[in-house]
Amino acid sequence: MLRFENVTFKYSNSKENTLENISFTLESGEWLTIIGSNGSGKSTITKLISANLLVDSGKIFLYDKAYEVENLNLIRDNVAIVFQNPDNQFVGASVEEDVAFGLENKKIPSQDMEEIIVDSLSKVDMLEYRKAEPRNLSGGQKQRVAIASALAMKPKLLILDEATSMLDPKSRKEILNYIKKINIEEKISVISITHDAEELAYSNNVLFIDKGKILKKISADSMLENGKLLSDSCLELPFLDKLKVELNKKLNNDIFSINDDMEEVIDKLCKLVLKK
Ligand SMILES: Nc1ncnc2c1ncn2[C@@H]1O[C@H](COP(=O)(O)OP(=O)(O)OP(=O)(O)O)[C@@H](O)[C@H]1O
Ligand SMILES: [Mg+2]
Repeated sequence: MLRFENVTFKYSNSKENTLENISFTLESGEWLTIIGSNGSGKSTITKLISANLLVDSGKIFLYDKAYEVENLNLIRDNVAIVFQNPDNQFVGASVEEDVAFGLENKKIPSQDMEEIIVDSLSKVDMLEYRKAEPRNLSGGQKQRVAIASALAMKPKLLILDEATSMLDPKSRKEILNYIKKINIEEKISVISITHDAEELAYSNNVLFIDKGKILKKISADSMLENGKLLSDSCLELPFLDKLKVELNKKLNNDIFSINDDMEEVIDKLCKLVLKK
């Protein structure tokens, strides 16, 4: 559904290209996680996809339509983005106005709006705050509203640029589970930028970016199976995974698989200690 062809981009005030010759494709229903160190160009990619920035050279296509002025409506109708800092994306004076804003732009009839607002705010557990002023919310609550506003648009491509970073682990899981559900059931594609290794479990593929260039695109499964690749990436691993990676390193053996749960790890450790 989305295709980058040799895309190069430079901010006007920077000397070097921020992105250089980037090519990749995203299928309908694919969940792609983009990984790269700070400043490698991940957010710039998302801003190009949401048409907030325009390429210097190369081409981007959505449903085989090039990113050109006459296709801007197609892009706006199908792509929704949630940024890392939710403060910069509030447009409404209240939570519900914020969700309604995008719907009005999309010319959704007002009698349908109430249902969409209630539905999307419930999905992120923020319905009771519908009359609240966004500036009075916590960072995590703001992120949830930003996610609700994006989901209300029923996009075909949802971009999460570190959009769950301020959430506590439980709410992050709940929201990611919900997005995974619509990703599968409604074939919504997801591009997610994250430093959280647990998100790999939701992804089909992983794109590695370094200094504005693509290093590789691999399947999330092969990434999860490769402890070294995981520990070398800039992902924050959960404790159990860190433990497994460190044990494998010390033992110089890939005994602990990234898929092992706590019970399996304990089992393997006992066998090692008791040499059974
Ligand atoms: N508006 C801007 N004007 C000039 N340079 C910018 C602008 N925004 C970003 N840059 C620069 O472009 C490069 C890529 O930035 P980008 O925000 O895309 O990186 P990122 O991978 O998203 O980083 P992070 O992990 O910190 O979010 C960086 O060197 C950054 O300083
Ligand atoms: Mg960024």
